[in-house]
Amino acid sequence: MFITIEGIDGSGKTTQSQRLSEWLEERMHTKTIRTYEPYAFRDVILGSKGISPMSELLLFLADRAEHVNNIILPAIINGHHVICERYNDSTLAYQCGGHGLNVSHVKSIIASCKFPEPDVKILLDINPELAYSRVKQRHNLNDKFESEGLSLMKRVSEFYRTLAGYIVIHCEAMNESDVFAKITSELEKYI
Ligand code: TYD
Repeated sequence: MFITIEGIDGSGKTTQSQRLSEWLEERMHTKTIRTYEPYAFRDVILGSKGISPMSELLLFLADRAEHVNNIILPAIINGHHVICERYNDSTLAYQCGGHGLNVSHVKSIIASCKFPEPDVKILLDINPELAYSRVKQRHNLNDKFESEGLSLMKRVSEFYRTLAGYIVIHCEAMNESDVFAKITSELEKYI
């Protein structure tokens, strides 16, 4: 299975993907590759402040092309499971929902890249204020970033909620273990 996990920053993707990877290996006796984006050009992308949304889009797609070729496709071809934090819908949610690029235009650019489609997509839905307070603790952000970052996260979160085809987990009323139990019970339906 090729599984993607999406959600705003601070929604708990890394924690859940770690647990899920161990669970899948045990449950299905199949090696599981855990990975995330941005992957190849991570430092360039995360370090490039103030570039245009279109440049950002192209960097994320170049990053994904490397990721697909070097990690995701080889893993699938070798019969492994893949769990990937962030994928095509991060691009729609951030570059369109967050930064205003045209959705149908970006969808058609992504489609022309012919990246493999996930078998299962999991969305960790969480209140942006709660997620943002977690991110702030992690990075010790200043006030300016706080207001810009929170409004961005609200737009991204709204956009994620419009996407179809997801196992959606509403995380805020649940602890980490409850979220994980919900994910595995939903995944059992696909196994
Ligand atoms: P990261 O520190 O990895 O955050 P997280 O742990 O929440 O994934 O930073 C990745 C950032 O890149 C995150 O803010 C979302 C953003 N992003 C996009 O804007 N577009 C994309 O296509 C992807 C994959 C990520």
